[in-house]
Amino acid sequence: MAKKQFLGQPLVTSANLKRKVKQLGREITSFYRGKPLIVLGVMNGSLFFLVDLVRQLPPETKVECWRASSYIGKSSSGKVSLETGSSDFTRHHVLIVDDIFDTGRTLSKIRRKALSLGALSVEICVLLEKQRKHDARLKPRWTGFVIPDEFVIGYGLDLDGKFRNLPEIHSLPD
Ligand code: IMP
Ligand code: MG
Repeated sequence: MAKKQFLGQPLVTSANLKRKVKQLGREITSFYRGKPLIVLGVMNGSLFFLVDLVRQLPPETKVECWRASSYIGKSSSGKVSLETGSSDFTRHHVLIVDDIFDTGRTLSKIRRKALSLGALSVEICVLLEKQRKHDARLKPRWTGFVIPDEFVIGYGLDLDGKFRNLPEIHSLPD
């Protein structure tokens, strides 16, 4: 009850998230049919989306996670820090999965790094895309929902590490 009063109506409900993840799973499965695929999840924001999405993909799909961070509170610091581990992407197609396409700085850095590690191709799937100016060189092949340029939380998206476990997406009032 208290949570509802604080957050109001969800921007994206959990029923709509479930439906969209199933649809994306079908499209991605058919796009990569017969091709070796590594799904590269960007932690921590994509945690919930990644887990739900990869369970819709064929069992031979490999999964890796990198960690990126750039936000302090409700604004981007402009500097992306990235922890990549020791991934080898040779002979594999890579699908980057992230929570949100905001400025595009994070995705652009990860895309470059994935190509430098020998990926045959690199595509992007984001759950959300903010309606704002992005890095023009980036175009996610799959986008779940286009949303207004507002700060959002839930289903993996956080404010200083909190609210990731909300089952739906909410705009956070200023
Ligand atoms: P970008 O590099 O500016 O595109 O920022 C991307 C990262 O910032 C995303 O992967 C998110 O983790 C985080 N981020 C951007 N917008 C929001 C938001 O509205 N809520 C929570 N996290 C966000
Ligand atoms: Mg993120």
